Amino acid sequence: MANRQITRQIGKMRRDWEQRARENARYYVATGKEKWTDEEFFASGELAVKEEILTDLINICQGRNPKEMKVLEIGCGAGRVTRALAGFFGEVFAVDISREMVRQARSALREFPGAHVFRNNGKDLAAVRRNWWHRFGMGARLELDFAFSCIVFQHIPNPAIIENYVREVNRLLRPGALFKFQVQGAAAKFEPDDSWLGASFTEQEARTMARRCGFEMRYHHGAGEQYYWLWFFKTGAPPD
Ligand SMILES: C[S@@+](CC[C@H](N)C(=O)[O-])C[C@H]1O[C@@H](n2cnc3c(N)ncnc32)[C@H](O)[C@@H]1O
Repeated sequence: MANRQITRQIGKMRRDWEQRARENARYYVATGKEKWTDEEFFASGELAVKEEILTDLINICQGRNPKEMKVLEIGCGAGRVTRALAGFFGEVFAVDISREMVRQARSALREFPGAHVFRNNGKDLAAVRRNWWHRFGMGARLELDFAFSCIVFQHIPNPAIIENYVREVNRLLRPGALFKFQVQGAAAKFEPDDSWLGASFTEQEARTMARRCGFEMRYHHGAGEQYYWLWFFKTGAPPD
């Protein structure tokens, strides 16, 4: 996926998020407060995990022991949710487009040896694969048990970039596993180069994207709203 518009949009996202991270990372991660203490910031991540993960263990763990699961987070920011994920699951891989966000996330996760945070290129998971190959040998297969993303795709202005991430997750998930993520569901007038207000999805658009990318959209919640949650289960069918 390389065309001029996407390259330009990714460059803009990277610059904007880098600037936001340097200015006040925690505020741009969770705008509820301008000044977060460590305690408050990480408690908000614990709350997100309590609400979106711990209430949904049947779909997420599917009978597996969470401590034996490998999970992925896309757009980890300053490690707010990642830290709570790392306390619950065995191994967590996280990516973010901003170098400063990654620096802060690594610092937040320094006591969690099972957490691996990478700066990525804003569109795929090559950084995760590279790290796996570095650890286990070129071509070694990484199979994830669950993938998660919140308050990230709602900022991405091009649905093709979001779809590319969905395809990338499909490559890494084991069959039957869940990718639970949030997109913008409110129909908003967004600008193609805006890195704050992202592309929105209708139920139909989300469902067809799931099918194209080798997933079944089994549940959804919040259609028409900013926090539109999607449950994509990996099917056996290859992506288009
Ligand atoms: C609002 S913050 C949310 C962070 C985290 N998900 C949380 O809830 O604490 C959005 C994050 O997404 C990252 N991001 C934005 N566009 C991205 C992209 N195309 N690829 C990877 N990360 C991206 C930003 O750098 C930022 O850290």
